[in-house]
Amino acid sequence: MKNGAPSYTQREVITTQIYPSADQACTYVADAITDLVSERNAAGQPTVLGLATGSTPVRLYRELIRRCQAGLSFQRVITFNLDEYYGLSGDHPESYRRFMQDQLFDHIDILPENTHVPDGLAAKDEVFESCSDYEAAMREAGGLDIQILGIGRTGHIGFNEPGSGPESRTRLVTLDSLTRRDAARDFLGEENVPRHAITMGVGTILDARQIFLLAWGEAKARVIAESVEAPPSESIPASFLQGHPNCVFCVDEAAASHLTRLRYPWLVGPVDWTETMTRKAVVWLAQKSNKPLLRLTDEDYTENAMADLLTEKGSAYDLNIRIFNTTQHTITGWPGGKPDADDSYRPERRIPFPKRSLVLSSEPTDDVFCMGGVLHRLANQKHQLTVAYLTSGNLAVPDTDVRRSIELIIELGERLDDVAEVHFARKVEQQLDAKGQFGEDSSDLRRLKGLIRRGEARSSARLLGIDPAQLRFLDLPFYETGRYRRFQITKADVAAMVTLLNEIRPHQIFATGHGHDPLSVPALSFEVLQIALRACAGADWLKDCWIWLYRGPGVEWEIHEMDMAVPLSPDELDFKIKGIYQHQTQRSQSPGGSKQDANSWNLASALNRATAQAYDALGLAEYEAIEGFKRFRS
Ligand code: PGA
Repeated sequence: MKNGAPSYTQREVITTQIYPSADQACTYVADAITDLVSERNAAGQPTVLGLATGSTPVRLYRELIRRCQAGLSFQRVITFNLDEYYGLSGDHPESYRRFMQDQLFDHIDILPENTHVPDGLAAKDEVFESCSDYEAAMREAGGLDIQILGIGRTGHIGFNEPGSGPESRTRLVTLDSLTRRDAARDFLGEENVPRHAITMGVGTILDARQIFLLAWGEAKARVIAESVEAPPSESIPASFLQGHPNCVFCVDEAAASHLTRLRYPWLVGPVDWTETMTRKAVVWLAQKSNKPLLRLTDEDYTENAMADLLTEKGSAYDLNIRIFNTTQHTITGWPGGKPDADDSYRPERRIPFPKRSLVLSSEPTDDVFCMGGVLHRLANQKHQLTVAYLTSGNLAVPDTDVRRSIELIIELGERLDDVAEVHFARKVEQQLDAKGQFGEDSSDLRRLKGLIRRGEARSSARLLGIDPAQLRFLDLPFYETGRYRRFQITKADVAAMVTLLNEIRPHQIFATGHGHDPLSVPALSFEVLQIALRACAGADWLKDCWIWLYRGPGVEWEIHEMDMAVPLSPDELDFKIKGIYQHQTQRSQSPGGSKQDANSWNLASALNRATAQAYDALGLAEYEAIEGFKRFRS
């Protein structure tokens, strides 16, 4: 900011506090809860908390558990949860009652009778009464002192999906298809996600005396900006929080990234025109004006609140050429650097060659989905490539696929008279039969599912010209002992990563997970990498190691963010798609969940083609497809 003074006119109608990390935001909210509970405890009075489920509040609950262990008593605390899936009993592994027990209640001294979660099993003709009773119980308790909220990508709070009005109360609702898709992983398939839920209404939430809405990760960025900046409307139910006198949004930097003050700061105030900001603004201007970079005029700049950029940096002519060249220099067909070439304007160094390239894939599809073309090139261009699959990905293997493998093993074992093999397969088959649709997989089942994914990864790699001997399967323990939304990394995860790094001594690392929901598998994998890199500080190889971020399945960097853009020919895109196709157990997954009917291969090609088209539209060369990377400097 100019002269260091924050002078933006923010468009945010709700106070939005941006934190460097979710943990820091959680500390702030935990402090507010601790202060109130302590004050009420001292006065012998209850504190009434409205609680939420999902990944978002998990770290807050971990912090509250720590505070309880440090002496904060919850014996006088009364809680009301926002919602519950309709049709699930409290002991169903995906019910919100069970979630609350696992994530908070079982670890603090709260009285069980003081914890309330809507009854997911109320008979249809009793739901209305059950919901009124829930509201009455809240009133009797004195009303909600503090309400904690997450937000869905639909803009829902609780399960108040688009269409929910500000007066709505606790009731039975139908879940939005996007919400069901976002829950598909928890339920091992979208078809298993309940269609209905009971939720407090928007009006019920607005009655709380104080509200904290939490949001992490770039997937929430759009909906956060709309909730706090756009006029309140039923299409984004969280926007009704604008009418609450005491509501604060606590978000991390990734979730804040679409706020106008961060995304288009020149529209709301003076800007420090750094090189990065200039590039962002000029690319935005070209895209907004539907013009190639070199055809932007002085008028385009002045008419779009960028007159001061012209004054500071010269004419449109100079700016256009500069940003055109910068963008041009991101393009390379040599993601490991081009040997024997002038590399002054190339994204990667020409030496050393060959490079020891380490690709980290948080789950076995991330690598090929996001950088299949680059994998192919690195292998072809004779770099010493290692692809490390950090987690086994076994949770994402449908039961139908593992059953097919079990049957294959039994049949083969019987033909070969291999008693041990048949015995093992029959045992796993029984475990599969016994667990039911939502039961947890036994360790044998998980092992077998993990092996299936290894096979898919090998066959995908082969197609891309990578010898399966170059693959590593780390099976990081955090994933093996956890469930989606509930993972926790330990020293063993970091130790495995440190060992890998010190063995490979990479010149370049490709990784994903930066800016993702901090409890997601990619984000935790990235956290493990960062801690491991700190543990390697001082190592020789680290001084020369560059880190390239790929964005993640289903999403791509914006043009101004890319430091390296690797074009794919039609044939290379074809290879990549065939590589993705080898991940047969993932055929019904829709990475990123951004398109209703998308499958991973057409989503990947659509994204890579769209990036190429965006480069073309800026007046750069026209390619079939492009994969994008951003340099990470810690
Ligand atoms: P999440 O869900 O915390 O798992 O992202 C939030 C919500 O849907 O409210």
